[in-house]
Amino acid sequence: MTTKALEGVRILDFTHVQSGPTCTQLLAWFGADVIKVERPGVGDATRGQLRDVPDADSLYFTMLNHNKRSITLNSKNPKGKEVLEDLVKICDVLVENFAPGALDRMGLTWERIQELNPGMVYASVKGFGPGPYEDCKVYENVAQCTGGSASTTGFLDGPPLVTGAQIGDTGTGLNLALGIVTALYHREQTGRGQRVLAPMQDGVLNLCRVKLRDQQRLAHGPLKEYSQHGRGIEFGDATPRGGNDSGGGQPGWIIKCKGWENDPNAYVYFITQAAAWPAICDVIGKPEWKDDPEYATPDARLDKLTHVFETIEDWTKTKNKFEVMDICNPLNIPCGPILSMKELAEEPSLREAGTIVEVDHPERGKYLTVGCPIKMSNSPVEVTRSPLLGEHTDEILAEVLGYGETEVGEIKQSGAVGTPPKAEAAE
Ligand code: COA
Repeated sequence: MTTKALEGVRILDFTHVQSGPTCTQLLAWFGADVIKVERPGVGDATRGQLRDVPDADSLYFTMLNHNKRSITLNSKNPKGKEVLEDLVKICDVLVENFAPGALDRMGLTWERIQELNPGMVYASVKGFGPGPYEDCKVYENVAQCTGGSASTTGFLDGPPLVTGAQIGDTGTGLNLALGIVTALYHREQTGRGQRVLAPMQDGVLNLCRVKLRDQQRLAHGPLKEYSQHGRGIEFGDATPRGGNDSGGGQPGWIIKCKGWENDPNAYVYFITQAAAWPAICDVIGKPEWKDDPEYATPDARLDKLTHVFETIEDWTKTKNKFEVMDICNPLNIPCGPILSMKELAEEPSLREAGTIVEVDHPERGKYLTVGCPIKMSNSPVEVTRSPLLGEHTDEILAEVLGYGETEVGEIKQSGAVGTPPKAEAAE
């Protein structure tokens, strides 16, 4: 019999928007029972954001909340607060990413949580760690800008740029998930829970470590692998925007392929790894560069990288991006076609691997989502649809919390769980 790695772990999921839900979705994929607490009648704000199908939960919401159960609960209603405290008593982990102080204002301080359940792991995403900005509300791009990503992304002659990869939200959600399973492992030895904090600024900066590396290297001279160096442009006092420079010791750049005039994604990332240099020279029709002292060594090429990539591009423009990949891969020349979202969505091998998954939903029908990016041999992931608002309120009150009929009646009468209209409509 196959069990899931986190089977038996119960998560009180007080998350919303993207960063927290990313974390709890991963834990759900690994087998945890994730109980998402949402405000009656409203729910996670993303349910209604960027809607493509009228009255149906948005893709934004569904793609972040698979494999979870939803209970609606007004945590500011006295009866609702009692229910919330009962949930704290029986869960292993509480995850939240509200604005700083929101949980304290609900009366759920860390001290109170420890009183209720000393084994509880209390995990939070916040925009910033302790310091001048600790009370700020933060969204993805704020984290990208304050974590060093924006100042180092884009072209030298342009403004800072944000990236489409949600490194602040989803990136931090991943960090939090690791913090949680580590704290659960620690609890096995100590019997006690602990607080886990994953600030978004820290998460982005962590992903930008090579830029902090370059900041320190600047004190010892120009960053010779940046194309800026080859173009004779002086460095300032901070790590510059690197365009499509590789960020590592092997120079790389995005260059055009056949069809680039009409297709915005007819490009390939091409890396001139030192070991592959002879093969590159042969394939692009420049065999003489192999022995030319001006080109033969990585150091000699550093101030000519723009010319090198222009010459490689003269060759790649005669092939489509997949042909470039097919020719270069057997020669151990690292390169990667620029794949559009359309191409990724249609790629059969990604469907087979469970990297992109088709899910059916009662309100919106079939849609695509990303599957679990971590594959475990003994804990396979089956992606199931996100819950409707309050869909599991009754079963959580009765089965998880063990309330009797009278008690459930009182809770409902108090307005603590509100009306879950969608759940009823779906029955
Ligand atoms: N019952 C009653 N009240 C509830 C509730 C429930 N079930 N769930 C949430 N609330 C309340 C909160 O207590 C809070 O009330 P308060 O301000 O009176 O204390 C309120 O709803 C809203 O919470 P808040 O987090 O301030 O939402 P927001 O929409 O204004 O801000 C963020 C959104 C994302 C900017 C903010 O939550 C944040 O900075 N989070 C931390 C960083 C983060 O994760 N950012 C990335 C998100 S992808």
